[in-house]
Amino acid sequence: MKVTIDGIEIDVPKGTTILQAARLIGPEVAPPAMCYYTKLKTSGGYCRTCIVKVSKGSTANPNPMPKPVASCRTEVMEGMEVQNFTSPEILEARKGVVEFLLINHPLDCPVCDQAGECKLQDLGYENGSANTRYEFKRREFETIDIGDKIKLHMTRCILCYRCVKVCDQITDNRVHGAIHRGDAAEISTYIDKAITNDFSGNVIDVCPVGALTDKTFRFKQRVWFTKPVDAHRKCTKCSGKTRVWLKGEDVLRVTARKDQWDEVQEFICNSCRYDHKKKSDWVIEGPSPIARQSVISQNHYEHLNDLKVEIMKQQKALGFMDLEKRP
Ligand code: SF4
Ligand code: FES
Repeated sequence: MKVTIDGIEIDVPKGTTILQAARLIGPEVAPPAMCYYTKLKTSGGYCRTCIVKVSKGSTANPNPMPKPVASCRTEVMEGMEVQNFTSPEILEARKGVVEFLLINHPLDCPVCDQAGECKLQDLGYENGSANTRYEFKRREFETIDIGDKIKLHMTRCILCYRCVKVCDQITDNRVHGAIHRGDAAEISTYIDKAITNDFSGNVIDVCPVGALTDKTFRFKQRVWFTKPVDAHRKCTKCSGKTRVWLKGEDVLRVTARKDQWDEVQEFICNSCRYDHKKKSDWVIEGPSPIARQSVISQNHYEHLNDLKVEIMKQQKALGFMDLEKRP
């Protein structure tokens, strides 16, 4: 099926959603997505950040769709034309969505462990407006302890339901979900049961904000002062392929590896995540690919070293004094 997104045409199989088609073209047209997650069935349709304008429904019915649609839940039709970043109305509408998502979200980024890898932070910078019109009290919740490994900050939750789907689809014995409805809805372990399933730690990786964070990493280090490397070990429960976050020789935390859309490549087990915090537990494969615009890449000087070596080579060739030996 041929679909055109922001003027770029692509041929995709029937059943592909607009969001998937846009991702196949690339980040220059792909809408942001806060609740859709490729590896979680029935995800998407909650947050509305992925809205696009369908300016032509299909070749058979060229009428535009009357209002913005959620691209993660709308399948492409033959001849469909879609506008995302090229539509000023969509950019304006998305600003409104971001404003809504931020209504109850506390601005505690300076003390939040998710800072530097928070999708809401990125969304706010890239698609939000600098001001809020909200003047009421933000939501507050009783603190719920969901075990010794995961910290729940309900005030930061944007109710994307990804963690609920992880527990539903990846772990046995689901014990957590969303209770209540509307602005009273909250993520809970229903009867305060701790999440102890083998794969429950994956809720940390799928949470786009700092609502679910790793208690074993809490307040240990800002993420941009750590060095992520891809590593593996022999594991009987999962593939054992992880991302290990180092500070010198210390393993500060272990997470799943993520792809360019910030989605987990393979879910990992709790044993890999929590029980192997020695560098010698892992076979290090090399530095993890981190997006250049991410704050995490800011403190990695490898590329500056390469640059220095190159400059020194050129200076030597030109007969300049060696930088290292300068008085
Ligand atoms: S806790 Fe995180 S993953 Fe779960 S619904 Fe809230 S924002 Fe989404
Ligand atoms: S990503 Fe489509 S509605 Fe959330």
